[in-house]
Amino acid sequence: MTYHALVPAAGSGSRMGALSGRVLPKQYLPLAGRPMIRHALAALCATPAIANVFVVLAPDDTHWPAAEMAALGPKLHVLRCGGDTRAHSVGNGLRAMAAELGAIGNDWILVHDAARPCVTVAMIENLIAEVGEDDSGGLLAVPVADTLKRCDENGRIRQTVSRDGLWQAQTPQMFRHHLLLDALDFAPQVTDEASAIETLGLLPRLVPADISNLKVTYPVDLQMAEWVLRNREKA
Ligand code: C5P
Repeated sequence: MTYHALVPAAGSGSRMGALSGRVLPKQYLPLAGRPMIRHALAALCATPAIANVFVVLAPDDTHWPAAEMAALGPKLHVLRCGGDTRAHSVGNGLRAMAAELGAIGNDWILVHDAARPCVTVAMIENLIAEVGEDDSGGLLAVPVADTLKRCDENGRIRQTVSRDGLWQAQTPQMFRHHLLLDALDFAPQVTDEASAIETLGLLPRLVPADISNLKVTYPVDLQMAEWVLRNREKA
């Protein structure tokens, strides 16, 4: 079986507010001495099972630190074909990968957020092992720990939602190339790849991970990611 990683990194990270602003997109913010995106790319490149790592940038991205990324080796490929949404960036990336590599329809694609810098080789290898040859694919996820509330427009609770059976989806999310491309063409409005696969009637596998694989969305997340990376280095 052949595995490739695809990292959509064409977002602006507007929820980071003034920290990134319009100047430096979220994925390039400094984190533990490196641009944030480099941490996830390094883990993916260091995973022996992964043959190639494709990163999808916005066509007008002027921040990609090419010299610093060259140290990650020949697995890393840059595609400048990001779209208006994450799903468009992933779809464009899947097409561009096929144009470079040829017949990869049955290969596995691990899609990973540039904004999840704390993923480890062990997490990636566990996902690959747990999904195995299950054609529905799968993703890392954690069971919801908090009690969930649905609110009205005034910020008052209208409903308590049971957390039983609820999981938070993380990345990587892995699916066969041809299936993911079909799914994203069919359901381009989704916010993750598993949702697109679900619209085809398939049931992707949830692979238990842990909350250290956090997503950097708000400024405080950057501090938590820094803590995870620094403490892991010490361990
Ligand atoms: O904005 P958010 O954190 O949800 O984005 C998740 C991932 O999707 C990030 O890695 C971001 O760079 C990427 N993205 C993209 N193209 C877009 C929007 C987001 O590649 N148009």
